Amino acid sequence: MSSPAPFLVIAHRGASGYLPEHTLEAKTLAYGMGAGAIEQDVVMTRDDHLIVLHDIHLDTVTDVGGRYPDRARDDGRFYAIDFDLEEIQTLRATERFSRDTGTAVYGTRFPVGKGHFRIPTLGEEIEMIQGLNRSSNREVLIYVEFKAPAWHMEEGKDLGKALLVELGHYGYTTRADACYVQCFDPDALVRLRNDLKTDLKLVQLIGFNEWNESTADYEAMLTPVGMRVVGRYADGVGPHYSQLVLKDSDGGYQLKAAEWVRGARDTGLLLHPYTFRADDYPHQYFESFAEMIRFYASDLQVDGVFADHPDLVLKALQITP
Ligand code: G3P
Ligand code: CA
Repeated sequence: MSSPAPFLVIAHRGASGYLPEHTLEAKTLAYGMGAGAIEQDVVMTRDDHLIVLHDIHLDTVTDVGGRYPDRARDDGRFYAIDFDLEEIQTLRATERFSRDTGTAVYGTRFPVGKGHFRIPTLGEEIEMIQGLNRSSNREVLIYVEFKAPAWHMEEGKDLGKALLVELGHYGYTTRADACYVQCFDPDALVRLRNDLKTDLKLVQLIGFNEWNESTADYEAMLTPVGMRVVGRYADGVGPHYSQLVLKDSDGGYQLKAAEWVRGARDTGLLLHPYTFRADDYPHQYFESFAEMIRFYASDLQVDGVFADHPDLVLKALQITP
């Protein structure tokens, strides 16, 4: 009998609770802390390079506004897809800040505007993780989200296809490989599985309909029937952690699994909820971050979590990397 897969601690945008998100420094720290997987969000540049960036915009994590003031679109935003890689790599990446106030989104994290960080390409990041895997004799997974594939397609870029080519270049082609591919857009995942014939592990991210992450109806997805549909193309689901618990009529948590969770289990789908942050969690339900982590891992039996503080997840679960 095979042993159960270990609980997967996924460093969300790297160890982003400590260093600016999606910088190689944040990824290196996550690796050193013992994360089992490291997340990459991926978008495309004007000259068709894949870069690791959470938003299709550059303006809340870089100094693009000061460096290229004339390159905003009519909505005032600076889009990565309007810049060549060479330009993007001259930008200074920083801790995430509010466009309205210029102040940090998370006030006790790495200071905004400090340090010397840059935006990596997906290839640079994979080479670093694969290199560390070799020098550490470990197999830390990559966990890649392709962002806004429908929007990229409207802009003339086939992000999903380009991602499969890049992953293939680095040896990630099958379910046995140390890689997950995640997306909020079910149509894009179905296309990867059925049309582009990938055998990689796919994870359906689940948001809230009002986020407009895709045209999907996530409420319908969060049902036993919805899970069976997802199970036809995906290996797991990535819901927001609040979606895993039953709710009172006023929206308060009951600390029990929501009905759809059994449907996910019955379908054989992995559960990898997001995003666990030690400096931003619902204190009214959990006395500590560690208690929250133990509830999801032990009571709800999720298979892994996306966390900004991977070290604290490992500590809460007494996992030795
Ligand atoms: O991909 C899991 C989680 O990262 C989804 O949220 O917005 O941080 O990409 P986001
Ligand atoms: Ca993500």
